[in-house]
Amino acid sequence: MEIPSISDALPFYLLKLSLQTMPKVKTVYFCQNCGAESAKWVGRCTSCGAWNTYVEEVTSKTSYNVDFISKKSKPINIKEAFSESGYARISSGLAELDRVLGGGIVEGSLVLVGGEPGIGKSTIMLQMAVKHSKKVLYVSGEESNEQIKMRSDRIGASSESCFLYAETNLSEILRATEKLGPEILIIDSIQTLHSDRIEAAVGSISQVKECGGQLLKFAKQKNIPIFLIGHVNKDGAIAGPKVLEHMVDTVLQFEGDRHHTYRMLRTIKNRFGSTSELGMFEMRTNGLREVTNPSEILLSPREPDLSGVAPGATLEGSRPLILEAQALVSPTTYGNPQRSTTGYDHKRLMMLLAVVEKRIGVRLSGQDVFLNIAGGLKVQDTALDLAICTALFSSFEDVPVKEEICFAAEVGLGGEIRPVSRIENRINEARKLGIKKMYVSKHNMKLQDAGQFKIEVKAFSKLNDVFRELF
Ligand code: TYD
Ligand code: MG
Repeated sequence: MEIPSISDALPFYLLKLSLQTMPKVKTVYFCQNCGAESAKWVGRCTSCGAWNTYVEEVTSKTSYNVDFISKKSKPINIKEAFSESGYARISSGLAELDRVLGGGIVEGSLVLVGGEPGIGKSTIMLQMAVKHSKKVLYVSGEESNEQIKMRSDRIGASSESCFLYAETNLSEILRATEKLGPEILIIDSIQTLHSDRIEAAVGSISQVKECGGQLLKFAKQKNIPIFLIGHVNKDGAIAGPKVLEHMVDTVLQFEGDRHHTYRMLRTIKNRFGSTSELGMFEMRTNGLREVTNPSEILLSPREPDLSGVAPGATLEGSRPLILEAQALVSPTTYGNPQRSTTGYDHKRLMMLLAVVEKRIGVRLSGQDVFLNIAGGLKVQDTALDLAICTALFSSFEDVPVKEEICFAAEVGLGGEIRPVSRIENRINEARKLGIKKMYVSKHNMKLQDAGQFKIEVKAFSKLNDVFRELF
């Protein structure tokens, strides 16, 4: 064998050296359901419990630190902070959307809009885009420009200042945005984007993270608000984009039954306003209509002799809502008694049933119980307890609540009537709907002057007393 000269051997030596010094490609495993990260493959996700959801992905070295906060930033006194950088907001043109955003779109904010497929995320964003007087760029990775145009024709609006762009490559999108200079950018959807910087598949956790990070940086640097549409998984969590939740400024969730016409837009997180705000929309053939007075539609017209219904006053964020609790209690014909709820916590219903059984002394163990919150809304507010107990008892006895009464109180395990927050808002909302009487907790009225409300307010301390008064 011929011995290579030193000059021949050098390239091999350099190649070997460069291979040694080249950084290793780092891969990690991500749960595609919740976004949890693991160094090794695992069969069952330790954080969400889903099986077989870990996928190997190449991670990027990019970090999304706070370098977008300008270099000249220096510590300032907290008193000066607000006047110097009070949030500049622009209206979205939709009052209900402004409400959930905390009073309008904050410049340079990143907003994630989540929701099940077909709920109307694209529709609401396009509606905002075509009705806005400012320059808006609507980027779609899911539909062609023609499809979007057809949708905007359906909404019945077109605007000189709305631009469409069918693209999924993030760097192309950022370049085009910079050139066009829109005042609002909409991305439909984050799961369809891909960045050249990393190799992971489109829609994978790494890609979603990477694209979200780059968009965050872009929003802060250019000071334009960006709306990201994100799909949710079958459990209703904004998975995939769940990894974005900590990164973005605001998370909105679009909810509702696809077969119902009413849609709720909820705030899950908001750095610029209160959370758990609620906006209501109605899906029509020509787009979404804002519902400015939801209580009116949620409260069905009263049939005077219907048993098992009772209106209750709940609070969604700062917004009082009058809802109707509907219960059906009927003897079980065979097998175990059924308990079924729609729009309410199942465990809470079981607790209320136990309270009614023990404290009022009615036997519900041989009864099927169905509970429905009218209007397709999901309620967690415990202020609906009294309305639910009343509806249950009214259905059991088959005696309607005669007068038009609205209830707002929590029921404790001892059958005691407990106070709820912001009672005056609830009472005023009931009054606006023309309700004449309100049943609340005694403790709520200690600090209130009952005369200030222009409707009759009755205060109770025991569930027993309420039922004695009513039935
Ligand atoms: P879409 O907004 O595409 O939902 P998402 O982007 O969340 O997946 O779809 C909304 C649904 O509403 C779709 O099934 C069609 C229907 N729709 C209307 O009823 N009226 C309308 O004006 C529009 C545009 C859509
Ligand atoms: Mg869509």
